[in-house]
Amino acid sequence: MTIDFHWRIPTHGEPSSLRAHEPFRGDWLPNNNSIRKAGLSGRKDDGFAYIDYLAEIARAAEISGFQGGLIPSFPMTDEPWAISSFLARETSTFRFMLAFQPGFLNPVTAARMTASLQRATNGRALFNIITGGGGPSQLWWGDSVDHDSRYTRTTEFLDILRGVWRGENFSYKGRFYQVEDAALPYPLSEEEFPEIYFSGSSDAALVSASKHADYYLSWLEPFAQLKDKFDRVKTRTDTLGRKIKCAVRVDIIARPTEEEAWAEVKKGFDRVSRETLDALGNRGGGDSVGANRQSKFRPGAINSYKDLIIEPNVWSGFNLLRGGQGQGIVGSYEQVAERLDELVQLGADAFILASTPHLEEAYRVGEEVLPLVRGHR
Ligand SMILES: Cc1cc2nc3c(=O)[nH]c(=O)nc-3n(C[C@H](O)[C@H](O)[C@H](O)COP(=O)(O)O)c2cc1C
Repeated sequence: MTIDFHWRIPTHGEPSSLRAHEPFRGDWLPNNNSIRKAGLSGRKDDGFAYIDYLAEIARAAEISGFQGGLIPSFPMTDEPWAISSFLARETSTFRFMLAFQPGFLNPVTAARMTASLQRATNGRALFNIITGGGGPSQLWWGDSVDHDSRYTRTTEFLDILRGVWRGENFSYKGRFYQVEDAALPYPLSEEEFPEIYFSGSSDAALVSASKHADYYLSWLEPFAQLKDKFDRVKTRTDTLGRKIKCAVRVDIIARPTEEEAWAEVKKGFDRVSRETLDALGNRGGGDSVGANRQSKFRPGAINSYKDLIIEPNVWSGFNLLRGGQGQGIVGSYEQVAERLDELVQLGADAFILASTPHLEEAYRVGEEVLPLVRGHR
């Protein structure tokens, strides 16, 4: 059995370490005289742009053993399709996992965009289908469709994407989309349909994933709970006569020794203000079942970084140090590899790993941790 490893491309800039809060690498920071931004030498533009930094990360991941990288899509990120097109010319095998919300794009247009990307990159596109977490960020896109209806829309969208891909006239009448005699033209129709990773923890997400996903993707959760989640989606998919694989998106801090790894966490934690710690429970505001599950793993009172250790080598404070979800793995290279192996035993077939800064850590994780994972190809 081989396990696929993907890295993540930080498309909203990133700091130079987990301890620094300013995301100046990738120049997503407003002009600030005290900070030397990438692309500026002696305050003059040196021609090194944000996309050059992302390309360095993609190349680092490529030569360190990762198959590709997740390109997230949030209101504060760059646009994944455009970024993938740029990075395609800078890499040769790196695969682009485009996060995108089906509702925001016409499905026939999406099929054509994807097939063109497949054609230009020799089949290096794949999807992380996201359906949105509701609340303010959904309204940012002008989307007020309710939670379960969004998944209905996702399912219809993927029905059409598959339908038109065959290159034969395809008609469809759904609640959200109708098409008549639509088809990808030759030679686009000859391209391989992209693998689908699919995120979402709700029942509605599982219904849609079981119909269309190749990989059901979850954030890290307590291991026993993650196993239940994987079992549920696999059972549901089996009843449809299909097979589904599972994947975990997880941040890691791996160092030669466990002490060094926790020391890194402690340094980051010690810079977090009491105010930020107290406000941790108030984040969100959406209807995401997955995000609400994540917040339940966090202990009530947090006075030390140790209070956030919820299982051996699992720390639930990553969102104090950077955006995103809380759970991640901390430990020596061997321990991190062991925990990943355990996740494989629980049903994971692929991982999307990340660590800050993504450039140096792509080398570290690729060279020091991946070779220790038993399922590594
Ligand atoms: C690994 C992973 C990555 C995600 N990436 C994004 C993203 O890039 N953009 C986004 O808007 N939502 C993202 N999401 C959120 C999901 O699309 C989904 O909206 C959320 O899990 C709510 O669905 P649920 O209520 O079924 O859990 C991600 C979720 C997971 C598990």
